[in-house]
Amino acid sequence: NKGSYEHYMQKEIHEQPESLKTTMRGRLIRGGSCKAKSVLLGGLKDHLKTIRRSRRIVFIGCGTSYNAALAARPILEELSGIPVTMEIASDLVDRQGPIYREDTAVFVSQSGETADTLQALQYASENGALCVGITNTVGSAIARNTHCGVHINAGAEIGVASTKAYTSQIVVMAMVSLAIAGDTISNQERRDAVIDGLYDLPNKVRDVLELDQEMKELAKLLIAEQSLLVFGRGYNYATALEGALKVKEVALMHSEGMLAGEMKHGPLALVDENLPIVVIATRDACFSKQQSVIQQLHARKGRLIVICSKGDAASVSPGGLCRIIEVPQVVDCLQPVINIVPLQLLAYHLTVLRGYNVDQPRNLAKRELLN
Ligand code: UD1
Ligand code: F6R
Repeated sequence: NKGSYEHYMQKEIHEQPESLKTTMRGRLIRGGSCKAKSVLLGGLKDHLKTIRRSRRIVFIGCGTSYNAALAARPILEELSGIPVTMEIASDLVDRQGPIYREDTAVFVSQSGETADTLQALQYASENGALCVGITNTVGSAIARNTHCGVHINAGAEIGVASTKAYTSQIVVMAMVSLAIAGDTISNQERRDAVIDGLYDLPNKVRDVLELDQEMKELAKLLIAEQSLLVFGRGYNYATALEGALKVKEVALMHSEGMLAGEMKHGPLALVDENLPIVVIATRDACFSKQQSVIQQLHARKGRLIVICSKGDAASVSPGGLCRIIEVPQVVDCLQPVINIVPLQLLAYHLTVLRGYNVDQPRNLAKRELLN
């Protein structure tokens, strides 16, 4: 049921404040007198000791689910102190890459039924790793065949393009990071900041959804473009990949997400006064590096669209020439949840304006290719 919305993708983008609340419901524990706050993940609590002892955590998934894991990787590394590596499920299976008994393999999948991810699960399981699932679908193959896991509880996702599952997956993996970290004195301040950030996140997502009209206007400007680049780094490398995936998948426009740190090593050659480029430059430890990326792109007359924190327009737009999208600031590791929303909205409006099928892009894409 689409309610008052025209498409499921639109409905699912706009219901993210609610889906995130459902994802967190009952899992964030407000402290009593001592103000201790913590995370309770029923599906993991008996396995935390084993996970903490593992030599490595390997995230495994495809498409948007892989991107969500990539977004959560920095906070998991920081809070667990355990090396975290990334595997695209099909590539792990193709390579038969090394997986050991001392590994914790985390399988991220909205549907819980993706064939590549299931094959990787079977492979990791045969190699003796502890297999953890993060899925939206109770009773799915991945939920059944992992040793333990967490349901993201985002509600059914009907649009083929994954939107609300992505943000709920990131939130679950941030909660998993907190759960693995446990509460030591040394990390208490950081943990409190992340937990406060989680409580506040649904409201901040509601705020960022107010960009809807602005993103529609931007989509009008980009409607006839051949290509769109998206540069991000740090916590928001994943945002660049996921924003570009949404644009190519539904709006059927070529788009590439790139690590801004790699710009000089090739992609810079593409920059001219025609190619539109989105740069994600919200406040975090990488901010000044992104400012210099913007300057270098500007020096080559790049057509820049900059996503920045509220109030930062002047700091990210040399000569006032960039198009600016200001988003609310949240704790750095949760900023990807906010930053993807304008790009989801952009992909949605581009698709509608270009006249493509929003909720079933693949069929239409196939027909287009055959013609
Ligand atoms: C569970 C109940 C929830 C109830 C809550 C009350 C289910 C599905 N969930 O939620 O309805 O409100 O207790 O305390 O009944 N699992 C996997 N692999 C996965 C995902 C999950 O093995 O990919 C396992 C978990 O380890 C756990 C079980 O499935 O044993 C349920 O997981 P989850 O729904 O996340 O647990 P709770 O949040 O505790
Ligand atoms: C993109 C999209 C796909 C899926 C991928 C994995 O919007 O939906 O990239 O993310 O096919 O699917 P799940 O998460 O169901 O394993």
